[in-house]
Amino acid sequence: MFSCVFREGNTYKNLVNGQWLESKSGERIKIYSPVDDSLVGEIQAQSKKDVDFAIDSAKKAQKAWAQTPISERANIIHKAARIMEKYEEEIADILMKEIAKSKSSAISEVKRTIDFIHFTAETAKRMTGETIYGDSFPGFDKTKISLVDRVPLGVILCISPFNYPVNLSASKIAPALVAGNSVVFKPPTQGSISAMYLGQIFCEAGIPAGVLNIITGKGSEIGDYLITHPEIDMINFTGSTEIGHRISNKAGMIPLLLELGGKDAAIVLEDCDLDETAQNIVKGAFNYSGQRCTAVKRVLVMEEIADELANKIVEQVEKLSVGKPEDDAQITPLISNKAADFVQELIDDAIEKGAKLLIGNKREKNYIWPTVFDNVTEDMRIAWEEPFGPVLPIIRVKNIEEAIEISNKSEYGLQGAVFTKNIDKAFAIAQKLEVGTVQINNKTERGPDHFPFLGVKASGLGTQGIRYSIEAMTRSKAIVINLDKDLQ
Ligand code: NAP
Ligand code: G3P
Repeated sequence: MFSCVFREGNTYKNLVNGQWLESKSGERIKIYSPVDDSLVGEIQAQSKKDVDFAIDSAKKAQKAWAQTPISERANIIHKAARIMEKYEEEIADILMKEIAKSKSSAISEVKRTIDFIHFTAETAKRMTGETIYGDSFPGFDKTKISLVDRVPLGVILCISPFNYPVNLSASKIAPALVAGNSVVFKPPTQGSISAMYLGQIFCEAGIPAGVLNIITGKGSEIGDYLITHPEIDMINFTGSTEIGHRISNKAGMIPLLLELGGKDAAIVLEDCDLDETAQNIVKGAFNYSGQRCTAVKRVLVMEEIADELANKIVEQVEKLSVGKPEDDAQITPLISNKAADFVQELIDDAIEKGAKLLIGNKREKNYIWPTVFDNVTEDMRIAWEEPFGPVLPIIRVKNIEEAIEISNKSEYGLQGAVFTKNIDKAFAIAQKLEVGTVQINNKTERGPDHFPFLGVKASGLGTQGIRYSIEAMTRSKAIVINLDKDLQ
């Protein structure tokens, strides 16, 4: 039985082959809080040797894990979720410090993750294969039978982004494990400490040595080595489109699941409930200061109602509090000064090109006050680029066709929203939008987590969502029985 102690003071070690180890290089990375620059802790900067050891351990452990009955694997997964409850406050506290997530959002991320892990264990137990008889194809009869099962892929490399370091990590790790894969998990550097708790809870739950391994270190230093490693059987990545492209260019002939950036549009028709629409748009655009792939990142509104909608949006935005995560402010500091610089560039570009500033454009260090622009035009960067910050552009359109055209012109295709009381129109628009999901009369959002979640175009490859993630991290295996025709 290994000891499950993942930190000494505020230095965090990594779970590799069932033990909490320091990097062979002896190097560490200091993690500072985006809230006040205080030191949150130190993580290991792992070397290529550490990566080799982690992947080798994962490979060796996977076969026995795949042979473990699903009910036993599911029991460990359930146990991990129960153990996570014990750490709920501690993890939420680290999330507030490490990624400046507001208190209520941090708690909700942990609770959602606990539910996710339980649901994953239950789903896996209920998934079945299928039996296909030959006689449905011309020239064959019922003596030929294909028994189609799903089998694990092997070693899955899971890479997650900073904005949901716990939830978006668990939503890769739990389905991968329950399906019988082993995992090498690379958390975001800013977010590693929060994510490391997943190693701790799975360790306490009794995950066998080598089945879950963690590698920390800067993606720019060890990322390429990880994604091109010959013993990795699949990569499940969530993060920017830039790194997603890099992975798809470099990884070999292995399956990829990529959840990338977005530029989700809210299309607003004349007959919508304007109050509800404005509330949805503001929540959708400004939750976690806009640092969500599914944030509403542009509004395409019919000219006739644009003034009224803009006023209602501003009324809502005026109520948003700006401050510290522990005070549960709605707008908290962005993840870094660099991120705030980028958002400011987009704001400056919009102002220079004549957008009408309705509210905001105030900045102190990495705090950006919620900013709304009206009369945004297609020559402005904010019309197309993902700010990952609290800036919302309003683009006025003449008709539905123009709204669809502008929505589809984006390189991204994560989600879209349509606000209208006319379900026929909503449905017709939804069918034409080039996105993974269309929300009718609701902000764009991922949950509930058993729904399929996917991006098209530059927003991703493959589908997540509990059952879909399990399917994506397994493959079909067919065994064909050929019965004796004389006995039929
Ligand atoms: P990011 O910069 O792409 O980083 C994501 C992860 O990739 C991090 O763990 C990062 O490690 C790692 N990484 C960096 N370089 C790598 C390389 N060469 N090889 C392998 N891994 C590498 O994204 P982020 O800033 O954390 O997150 C924000 C982005 O994620 C936004 O674009 C957002 O839209 C997108 N996102 C998408 C979804 C979705 O489901 N569609 C959900 C959430 C976020 P380091 O931290 O060490 O650099
Ligand atoms: O940006 C991460 C993605 O998973 C969003 O989830 O619930 O904020 O839409 P949610």
